[in-house]
Amino acid sequence: LILMFTHSWILGLLYLLGSIPIAIKAYRFRNEYRAASRLSQDQAGDLATAVEESVHGIRVIKAFGRGPHIYEGFNTQAKSLQETEIAKAKTLASFLLTVVAVPETILGIGLFIGIAQVANGTLSVGALVAYFAIAAVIAGPVEGMGMLLGMTLSTKTALDRHFEVMDSANDIVSPEQPRIPGERDGSVQLRHVRFAYPDTAGTHRPILADIDLEIRPGETMALVGITGSGKSTLLNLIPRLHEATAGEVLIHGQNVKDWELDQLRTEIAVAFEDTTLFSSTLRDNVLLGAPASLDEHEREALLTEALDVAQAHFTYSLPQGVDTLIGEEGLSLSGGQRQRIALARAIAARPSVLVLDDPLSALDVRTEELVTEKLREVLAGTTTLIVAHRPSTVMLADRVALLRDGRIDAVGSHTHLLSTNEHYRFVIASLDDEELPIAEEASR
Ligand SMILES: Nc1ncnc2c1ncn2[C@@H]1O[C@H](COP(=O)(O)OP(=O)(O)OP(=O)(O)O)[C@@H](O)[C@H]1O
Ligand SMILES: [Mg+2]
Repeated sequence: LILMFTHSWILGLLYLLGSIPIAIKAYRFRNEYRAASRLSQDQAGDLATAVEESVHGIRVIKAFGRGPHIYEGFNTQAKSLQETEIAKAKTLASFLLTVVAVPETILGIGLFIGIAQVANGTLSVGALVAYFAIAAVIAGPVEGMGMLLGMTLSTKTALDRHFEVMDSANDIVSPEQPRIPGERDGSVQLRHVRFAYPDTAGTHRPILADIDLEIRPGETMALVGITGSGKSTLLNLIPRLHEATAGEVLIHGQNVKDWELDQLRTEIAVAFEDTTLFSSTLRDNVLLGAPASLDEHEREALLTEALDVAQAHFTYSLPQGVDTLIGEEGLSLSGGQRQRIALARAIAARPSVLVLDDPLSALDVRTEELVTEKLREVLAGTTTLIVAHRPSTVMLADRVALLRDGRIDAVGSHTHLLSTNEHYRFVIASLDDEELPIAEEASR
């Protein structure tokens, strides 16, 4: 620009004036393109989620004959993404047009002014040629600026989306100075524990209102309550998968918040309600949480024992035995088989506190009986909290805790509760009903 000005200030000024409409357009483009980028990236994300869900749920979709409907939904989503992309491209195109057309127009005008100036002798031909040479050199970068700005804005949007996730704080972390518990007695206590799911806080009453529960060392306690009463939620508080909103959870007498997180979770093993197995060998799945200090021989013994307790003998008759691959690239297991592998995994972790969320629900009565028998031996020395949906599972326990309206309504032996607590009788009666058809089936 300085060179242009030194050759002819009028032509220099003209070129500079051209940058005003470009600047205004660039400002508008920035806002529009940013909004369009965000929308298109969000829509692409939603579309990917929809595809993933349909692939996972392909059986449900087929079984309910909802294929065409789902396809229609996909089409609508894809269409709006397409429209957003086109709108985005139009915004970019309109900006590129400005960035190219404005300098070219300026040059056109400049040519007339330049020729007039050369004609009346105020500008030399050499200076006019130099001016156009300089303008040609500048034009390239100015035109490139449009594309560059578009790419920068897209990248910025993607970065924003990335950091929205990455910057979300994880509140469940080890304390700065974790404490080592004194005596590992195996006790579990919940004191005035309150819990509400974060998104429902304030708008709903807490799932757990005031839980007071003590599981003595080595004791097996069953947790009973109607469906949706918060049993699984309560279990999640023990390995600190959720943080209690108020109150204390104590393991070996020490608040879970004072534990080093990894250490806390090696003390506790969980078998969840929805059994998740990994695409790996059965052996790896069962020994997932096994103590790292064991040698090959001990690991093998542990595997055999855990499979035996969980009555998962079916594993030995598989093509490659316990080395059979399961999951996406391997064999599919039945619901009851999966549940037994998950139970074996919890047992093989050799925890001091065992947390089982309805671990026998998918088993037939006979297998359940065998597992219960074996489990009783294993549970003898381990503090256990077991969610029970069947009276036979309740029988495993030394004491039963009844969860009702976010509180522990009563604690006692099965027979004691049965004779003293109306709600317990109600819950057990509904459990009994559930079991009847299965029991009948078995006796036939
Ligand atoms: N991640 C979550 N976010 C919000 N609410 C949840 C979440 N998980 C569970 N809930 C709600 O908390 C309540 C208790 O759920 P929970 O899974 O603990 O019940 P449950 O006693 O284990 O039931 P079930 O016997 O059917 O397994 C339910 O009303 C449920 O809708
Ligand atoms: Mg549950």
